[in-house]
Amino acid sequence: MTQDFIAALPKAELHLHIEGSLEPELMFALAARNGVAIPYASVEEVRAAYAFSNLQDFLDIYYAGADVLRTRADFHDLAVAYFDRAAADGVVHAEIMFDPQTHTARGIPFAEVIEGLLSAMAEAEARHGMTSALIMSFLRHLSEEEAFATLEEATPWLERITAVGLDSSEVGHPPEKFARVFAAARGRGLKLVAHAGEEGPPEYVRQALDVLAVDRIDHGNRSLEDAALVERLAREGMTLTVCPLSNLKLCVVDRIEDHPIDAMLAQGLRATINSDDPAYFGGYVADNYRAVAAARGLDRHALATLARNSFTGSFLPPDAIAAHV
Ligand code: ADE
Ligand code: ZN
Repeated sequence: MTQDFIAALPKAELHLHIEGSLEPELMFALAARNGVAIPYASVEEVRAAYAFSNLQDFLDIYYAGADVLRTRADFHDLAVAYFDRAAADGVVHAEIMFDPQTHTARGIPFAEVIEGLLSAMAEAEARHGMTSALIMSFLRHLSEEEAFATLEEATPWLERITAVGLDSSEVGHPPEKFARVFAAARGRGLKLVAHAGEEGPPEYVRQALDVLAVDRIDHGNRSLEDAALVERLAREGMTLTVCPLSNLKLCVVDRIEDHPIDAMLAQGLRATINSDDPAYFGGYVADNYRAVAAARGLDRHALATLARNSFTGSFLPPDAIAAHV
């Protein structure tokens, strides 16, 4: 019953790395299409390799998997598969992140990546009536200078990019490292998001707010260690894009029963539920809702609040948000 309610609940997905939606079956198909060798003999062997102790464990495998993505058609097929799957979960609007540096560093032109994604977005609208937006994420283990070069490279497509983000290895790469490039992105009319408080301390969440002036916090779990920060996030109505199955697989929580999603809502935080890297973490967005609904006993009211937060926290225009909530 709750299962049907969850799939039927119209929702937005706000935290999804398109490279993290690469299912092993598609990885093999693209490896064959592009003549790329992969270090696995079977789909089962790939899935067996997805046992992570922390964020970096996952990132090493995730960046290696992205090597099969070579052409515009690959990025198109990847994103179409995600949009089809998300539509089946009741997603009516998706704000998808992509990591251009993961590809341009391998010699794949920026244009191939973004044009493939944009054509898939048009197809999602035609097939499912699904709206979508692009978030261009900078890899925080690289330099700010490299992020600036990526922003520059994106110039011809800036009208089609809604926001910039910050992802990859968090600890040791605080938000303040990217203060200037985020200010430049803001100056070019882009919205701003950043992963903060996934593995990094509450101080990184504060920096994302104070130094980067982000519009949303991706994850934000460790904010809960700092009562004054929680109070501020609640007061400012800051949206947190929480990813329960990711948190479980990357050991941010030990057990799904320990997930703080209901504590976040109880403290007035504008939490949302998202899948992060569904092909790697064992579930798409409805699976994430189901997992916390079962583990934390969320009722329909709480589930509806989470879905409503996904629209109010989106970058849709106010009239479109009003039409969804
Ligand atoms: N890139 C893809 N998924 C990520 C995550 N959960 N945290 C940081 N960087 C990521
Ligand atoms: Zn993420």
